[in-house]
Amino acid sequence: MSVRDTYVALDAGVVIATASLDGMTVRSVFVLPEYQGRGAGLALMAQIETLARQRSVSKLSVPSSITAEGFYTRLGYATIREVYEGAEKIIVMTKALAP
Ligand SMILES: CC(C)(COP(=O)(O)OP(=O)(O)OC[C@H]1O[C@@H](n2cnc3c(N)ncnc32)[C@H](O)[C@@H]1OP(=O)(O)O)[C@@H](O)C(=O)NCCC(=O)NCCS
Repeated sequence: MSVRDTYVALDAGVVIATASLDGMTVRSVFVLPEYQGRGAGLALMAQIETLARQRSVSKLSVPSSITAEGFYTRLGYATIREVYEGAEKIIVMTKALAP
């Protein structure tokens, strides 16, 4: 967290979701299971994209888990390749940001 810009979503002062920007890469996008499907991920990603635009980032990249690919697709990200970190498949996705 010392090298990334991290946003959190709060419910009554309790952190229920996180997302961070590391250069042109989106990282640490997690929503507590009981809060998933209620817009927290979407809201945090909107903040990340706003911050990236303010920094003149023209393209964002996200290393997605298999389960989150549909979420990022819904937000306009496209799969460009798949890589493996050990046994874990990572789906690398990108999105061009309009200025
Ligand atoms: C993936 C995750 C970040 C999505 O956050 P969320 O708060 O549950 O998503 P939202 O409620 O903001 O959903 C926004 C939109 O994406 C869609 N969506 C959410 N998760 C989805 C998924 N896994 N597949 C397809 N669509 C999905 C929603 O239906 C919604 O679409 P709509 O606006 O058309 O109704 C969250 O479910 C999560 O933390 N999952 C477990 C950890 C994880 O996989 N993190 C990603 C690591 S790369």
